[in-house]
Amino acid sequence: METIDIAELHGFDANPYAYFARWREQGPVHRLRDPFGTEFWLVLGYEDARAALTDPRLAKSPEALPDPPYEIHSIGPSLLESDPPDHTRLRRLIAREFTARRVEQLAPRIERITAELLDALPPTGRGDLIESLAFPLPITVICELLGVPTKDREVFRSWSSELITPTSEEAGRLALDALTPYLDTLVEAKRRDPSDDLLSALVATHDEDGDRLSVPELRGLAYLLLVAGHETTVQLIAGAVRALLVDPVRLTAVRADPSLLDAVIEETLRHEGPILTSAGRFTVAPVEIGGVTVPAGEIVVVGLGAASRDPARFPDPDTFDPARDTRGHLAFGHGIHFCIGAGLARLEARIALEALLNRLPALAADPEGGPPEWLPGLLLRGTRRLPVRW
Ligand code: HEM
Repeated sequence: METIDIAELHGFDANPYAYFARWREQGPVHRLRDPFGTEFWLVLGYEDARAALTDPRLAKSPEALPDPPYEIHSIGPSLLESDPPDHTRLRRLIAREFTARRVEQLAPRIERITAELLDALPPTGRGDLIESLAFPLPITVICELLGVPTKDREVFRSWSSELITPTSEEAGRLALDALTPYLDTLVEAKRRDPSDDLLSALVATHDEDGDRLSVPELRGLAYLLLVAGHETTVQLIAGAVRALLVDPVRLTAVRADPSLLDAVIEETLRHEGPILTSAGRFTVAPVEIGGVTVPAGEIVVVGLGAASRDPARFPDPDTFDPARDTRGHLAFGHGIHFCIGAGLARLEARIALEALLNRLPALAADPEGGPPEWLPGLLLRGTRRLPVRW
C-alpha cells in the first residue's frame, strides 16, 4: 500500500474531509506519514473505526510493545496512555467524583463566567469571538473544577496556553516544568485544606478496599483535564457559532426556539467535531482492519471526523443538518476511553451559545475578518480566530 505524505497534500487543513472521502472510496484503512516523519495507519470507515476503538489488541500504552515507538514524557500516569487493568482502576476512582451531578452543579458558575466575559464587550463592535469567549470560558471552568486559586489563574492560563499551542519548543518545556511543582503544591494544599472542588474530592476519594490516587496520578489527571478539556471545548463553541452564522435562516430559527441548540451542538460534533483523529493506538499483535492486516508494533489512528462523515452511516454526510439523527457519532470517541468530559463540554457550549444569542441580538460573521485560518494537522479541527460583529 502506498504511504500518503500529509505534508504534500494541497489544502488539507482547509478541507480534510474531501481527502478522507476520496481515500475512503479506495478502502477503509490507509497508511500515512505525518510532517515529522512518523508513519501510521488511519481508519476512515465508520464500522471499522468503531470496532478499532474497542479492540484490546490496539493498546494505548507504548509500553505494551516490546520495542516502544516512542517514549512517554508525561507529567504523570494518564488515562489516555494506559490500558486495563491500570486504566480500569484510574477511571473507576475518577468516575466516583467526576459525576454528572458535579457537572450539573457547575452550571450557575459557567453562566456567571459567560456573563462576565460578555459584560466586558462594548454594546456594539467587532472582534474575535475565540479570544473574547470561546478560549477564556473553558480554561476558567477547568480552574474552577480543579480549585485553582483566583490569584494563580492568570499564570495557570499562560502555562496552559503554552502547553496547548507553544510559542516555541523552549516555552512549552518551561511551562511543563513550572506546572509540575505547581500541581504537586496544589494537591498538597487540597489535602491539608479541602474545599468543594473536584481536585479536593479526588485527593480524598478511595474505594471500598482503601485504594486511592497517588500524587503522580492526581498530577497526571489534572494535566489531562487541562489539555483534553480546553482547546476541544474552545473549538466546539466556535464551530457551533460558525454553523449558525453561515445560515441566517438557521440562526433566526434557533433564536426563536433555543431548545434547538442541543441539536445544533450535536450536529456540530458530528459534522465538524473538534477532534479529527483519536490518540494513537499500538498493535500488540497483527490486526485485520477493513480487510487490511496491520502488522504488530504499528501505530493506528482512528479517523473520528472521517467516520462521522461516512455516507454508509450518515446519509449526505457533508450537509450540516441539525434535524438529522446524530446518534452514534464518534466525536467523543467510543469504548473504554470515551470522553469523561463530554457532559461538561456540551453544558459549556449550550450556556455559551444561549448567552450569545440573548445578549448579542445583531451577532453576525464579520466578512472583513479575512478567510478562516484553519488549525494545521490531523488532531484538532477548528480555526485560530472567529471574526464577528455585533
Ligand atoms: C468538545 C469537547 C471535547 C471533545 C470533542 C473531546 C473528545 C475526546 C475524545 C475523542 C476522547 C477519546 C480519545 C481516544 O480514545 O483516543 C476523549 C477522552 C478524554 N476526554 Fe475529552 N473531549 C472534549 C472535552 C473534554 C473535557 C471538557 C474534559 C474534562 C474537563 C475532557 C476530558 C477527557 C479525558 C480525561 C479523556 C480520557 C478518557 C480515558 O482515556 O478514559 N474532554 N475526549
